[in-house]
Amino acid sequence: MNVSRSFGPQTVLDGVNINIPRGQTTVIMGPSGCGKSVMLKHIVGLLQPTGGEVWVEDQRIDTLRERDLRPIRLQIGFLFQLSALFDSMSVADNIAFPLIEHTNLTESQRRDKIHHALELVDLDGVENKLPAQLSGGQRKRVALARAIVLEPRIILYDEPTTGLDPIRSDGIDQLVNKLRRELGVTSVVVTHDMNSARKVAEHCFLLLNGKVAAQGTFEQLQQNPDFRVQQFLQGVYRRDDIEAERPSSPGQAASL
Ligand SMILES: Nc1ncnc2c1ncn2[C@@H]1O[C@H](COP(=O)(O)OP(=O)(O)OP(=O)(O)O)[C@@H](O)[C@H]1O
Ligand SMILES: [Mg+2]
Repeated sequence: MNVSRSFGPQTVLDGVNINIPRGQTTVIMGPSGCGKSVMLKHIVGLLQPTGGEVWVEDQRIDTLRERDLRPIRLQIGFLFQLSALFDSMSVADNIAFPLIEHTNLTESQRRDKIHHALELVDLDGVENKLPAQLSGGQRKRVALARAIVLEPRIILYDEPTTGLDPIRSDGIDQLVNKLRRELGVTSVVVTHDMNSARKVAEHCFLLLNGKVAAQGTFEQLQQNPDFRVQQFLQGVYRRDDIEAERPSSPGQAASL
């Protein structure tokens, strides 16, 4: 994809050109508010670019109508930043939701799929619990089970380890790797967790101020001479950087 996106006067993505290799794990990093979630939403057609194009495999998707997007969305599992489970529905019903919506499976076939998805995320025996009865890490796993239950070929993870302790984060990282290995999926992981990026990434992109500031393997990013890249990787706080992320002027947006 090669995308620009503004919201009113604010330019969030300013010609972000990203190629995501099939069957591999690509990590997108960048400071809070730099447009990582916005980028993922372009891949499923939840947002359209104000400039540029989005391609999924061999199809340009940013110009498709809602009806034509459906079959593409079905191939993409999306783990939302805040898990987005239905609180009043059991774990099993949460995972059944996309199956009821998009397939004609019988109840027992659905039960098998739900069981298999929970097995894949290493969660057993929680089918009848409510999301509130689970830990944060377990909720992420349930959301992931829901994202994979339709057996997508592409999985988008928005901050899968944020808010989890290091052990549970490691568990999620291992899951990302396992799903890539066992299902052969193309994965895109948005994160600012450096540990996690190191463990799952085959390829990384770092977004800064609406542009790709660096790309390559995690090790290549660590060798990148750009001081902004090093500051981000090492987590050095500078007030100037935060100032620079404030909404840009209308003049800039007009130049798109
Ligand atoms: N639907 C929208 N309407 C208006 N502005 C939006 C919309 N979605 C996102 N933005 C703006 O775009 C910018 C980038 O948002 P985004 O959620 O992509 O950040 P992010 O990189 O995912 O941050 P974080 O790491 O905190 O999740 C923010 O300034 C946000 O306010
Ligand atoms: Mg986000």
